[in-house]
Amino acid sequence: MGVKAVPQKGLEEVIAASTRLSDVDGKQGRLWYVGYDIHDLAADSTFEEVTYLLHNLRLPTEPELDELAERLVSEREVSPFLEGLMPTLAEQTSPMSMLRTGISAASAYDPDGWDNGPEANERKAVRLIAKTPTLIAMYHRMRTGEVIVPPHPKLPHAANFLYMLSGEEPEQLDAAALDTTLILYADHTMNASTFTARVIASTLSDMFSAITGAIAALKGPLHGGANEEAMKMLEEVGDPANAERYIKEKLGRRERIMGFGHRVYKTEDPRATHLRRLSQEMGKRKGDTRWFDISAEIERVVGQEKGLHPNVDFFAASVYRYLNIPTDLMTPVFALARMVGWTAHVREQYADNRLIRPESEYVGPRDQVYVPIDRRG
Ligand code: SDX
Repeated sequence: MGVKAVPQKGLEEVIAASTRLSDVDGKQGRLWYVGYDIHDLAADSTFEEVTYLLHNLRLPTEPELDELAERLVSEREVSPFLEGLMPTLAEQTSPMSMLRTGISAASAYDPDGWDNGPEANERKAVRLIAKTPTLIAMYHRMRTGEVIVPPHPKLPHAANFLYMLSGEEPEQLDAAALDTTLILYADHTMNASTFTARVIASTLSDMFSAITGAIAALKGPLHGGANEEAMKMLEEVGDPANAERYIKEKLGRRERIMGFGHRVYKTEDPRATHLRRLSQEMGKRKGDTRWFDISAEIERVVGQEKGLHPNVDFFAASVYRYLNIPTDLMTPVFALARMVGWTAHVREQYADNRLIRPESEYVGPRDQVYVPIDRRG
């Protein structure tokens, strides 16, 4: 037994697992997936290739990549059971509550059922990655009273999501922009939702349970929910000229600026570098730089007032707005990307498992004397 460490609030700097999937250097602002720099992957890879990388710990050959892409396409449909649940979910639940419920319910008809073996879990991972966009798009089409758009039989993952959401095949540059964001969101070491998934997997509970827990964790505004909150902030600011006053008043009320700060990065989040560029490019291409301009001004003021950098969620908000992704679907989009990392971490936990069970420091009263209820005050 090692020496008991002093409790770290929020487990800050506590190493909870060894992983081959991703690494972050918070001081240098670096991120790698299986040793590949995020800047290279964002520039040259695709969501499907990063999915292969995180699940096989190496880049695929062309035939291997084609096979995975075909499997993802073939697994996009959701069961009639799930489709039958969607009207109620579309009417009664928020998008992330739908996703938490839908993914949990998806286990009901999964062909691998209770098989928790490595081959079955690889197949479950592919199905979870393939079906998440379908659930989100179906939910949105139902709640807006539009016809359901079935998954496209050919379009790649990112393009298919935009197609199912809008009913039209996206412009190539829009699909490419979304694909890049999905690469950037795919994994990020021991963030709260990934840690949640690994804790659940460490009890040898099943993958659907682990992923349901991860979605529940991502939903919070201190984690994945921040991109939606950042978009609401952009709308409230409304014009770059309002940014300085808005931010100073918010900070004056000791409120958090969503999309800024990070537990690990103490300099620019390397993902924000790409998202800022995408936001600026898309604003120019679409002839409406407003969302980027407001974001850039907020970034300037928050840096000036608090010395905080934007994290992955800040510029993701304007990029998703330029892609006509509704604000309350922005965290579900984060989830459909992180489904790759979550499922890869769950498989990694199973492969070399020990129950995750940390200690706690007792700070309550001691030596209490029990008094029968008829003699209590
Ligand atoms: C993600 O972990 C991951 O890797 C997550 C993620 C991933 O890919 O999975 O990167 C994705 O979740 C990004 C983070 C999204 N969340 C937000 O944008 C919410 C706003 N950010 C903060 O709440 C905060 O920065 C956290 C939660 C992200 C990190 O918080 P910490 O490490 O617990 O830091 P802290 O709350 O102790 O803050 C330290 C100081 C405090 O000042 P004091 O009270 O000591 O004076 O910095 C301040 C905080 O008030 N601060 C902020 C702030 N973030 C920190 N002040 C204003 N606005 C902020 N956003």
